[in-house]
Amino acid sequence: MKVLIVGSGGREHALAWKISQSPKLTQLFCAPGNGGIAQMAECVDIKAEDVEGLFKFAKKMAIDLTIVGPEVSLVAGIVDRFAAAGLMIFGPSQAAARLEGSKVFAKEFMHRRNIPTAVFQSFKKIEAARRFVEQAEFPLVVKADGLAAGKGVFVCSSIDEAKSALDQIMKQKVFAEAGNCVVIEECLQGEEVSILAISDGEHYVILEPAQDHKRIFDDDLGPNTGGMGAYCPATIVSAELLEQIDARVIEPTIRGMQREGIPFRGVLYAGLMVGKDGPKVLEFNVRFGDPETQAVLPRLKSDLLEVMLAACANRLNQVKLNWDPRTSVCVVMSSGGYPGDYEKGKEISGLEQALEFEDVAVFHAGTRKQANKILTDGGRVLGVTGLGQGLEKAIEKTYEAVEQIHFDRCFFRRDIGAKGMKKAEDSQFKKLSRMKGVT
Ligand code: AMP
Ligand code: GLY
Repeated sequence: MKVLIVGSGGREHALAWKISQSPKLTQLFCAPGNGGIAQMAECVDIKAEDVEGLFKFAKKMAIDLTIVGPEVSLVAGIVDRFAAAGLMIFGPSQAAARLEGSKVFAKEFMHRRNIPTAVFQSFKKIEAARRFVEQAEFPLVVKADGLAAGKGVFVCSSIDEAKSALDQIMKQKVFAEAGNCVVIEECLQGEEVSILAISDGEHYVILEPAQDHKRIFDDDLGPNTGGMGAYCPATIVSAELLEQIDARVIEPTIRGMQREGIPFRGVLYAGLMVGKDGPKVLEFNVRFGDPETQAVLPRLKSDLLEVMLAACANRLNQVKLNWDPRTSVCVVMSSGGYPGDYEKGKEISGLEQALEFEDVAVFHAGTRKQANKILTDGGRVLGVTGLGQGLEKAIEKTYEAVEQIHFDRCFFRRDIGAKGMKKAEDSQFKKLSRMKGVT
């Protein structure tokens, strides 16, 4: 099979790495790809937003299956364009992609379907939104309705902060038409976890839970980023909690979309806050998470290409996923200054040394190849994933590999997985306490 992957980040490198292991694959393309993906796929210089360009390429090359990484292409309707011409593509239709493309759509859908989420109101007019925040309780969260490259969410602790967020979104239009509407919602407390499910519109399989680390600094301090690391499985998700998440969130979402005539085919990503009242949805994404995918796929033993083909053919009920029982940890190495301004073009060394470790993969997120050198080319540069027996060993292995890699002003968090360790220690302590009769 000839496969085309759309996108250029660490997520797409992890997808390319996994798909290239399939015996069904004959040729792999990636548009536009990056310096790491180029080692396993033919990179084609077409941007992910260029739906027409991608369509023409897929048609000309007789691509058998296209796999879409980023939300922009999905929200722009790439799946509808391909499907109308009979080209097989893995991802949701434009209508179903509104679960990510419009927060108002997603919130109203959850409300209709009784899916647990923060209490909210939506506003089309800034005056009404301002009046609302003047008498609201704080903290609260202001969100731009449309896609904002992960920057459209403002957690506000005062009226002034909320008004400033409204001004940026609705008056200055920093996210353009994505700010025509806003959602204002209750601020949820708890621990975040990412649950990904692959669906054919009717059936679905849930991937192993992962936990992202969104803030730039250790201990979850500093501004939000695209994600600084992840580990899988997320210790916080017990079998019982996963059942709850399935019954309250995943099943009603897949069923609800189907009943409303917009079946969801592709990857449903539920970003959840797990608090005292159980899991609540913070956001839906309609694609693989990044960096979660870099932690999840190295543990997947099943052939992902087969799974995607089953999803495209409405036969996911015949699929059971097999997992490596070990734990994975992915540490993102970023350019100093990210998520603000940063420099590009720094030479990366130590990649071969890092790959000498067994069960370590280095996924490229923002790199490019120039002559024989690999240079930095983005804010998030690499994702280093290691596997180990249990979280502690996986953390150790991953950081050993990370230490081999160098580039000028390289920055990474040193506490990826630490929250999971604490969780494991707490429950171990509780178990021991129970055994000893301590309360
Ligand atoms: P989103 O793009 O909706 O996932 O929001 C990005 C991040 O903002 C989330 O990962 C959370 O850390 C935070 N966030 C979003 N909504 C809420 C909420 N209602 N309460 C608390 N934190 C939130
Ligand atoms: N890791 C967050 C996201 O993929 O949106």
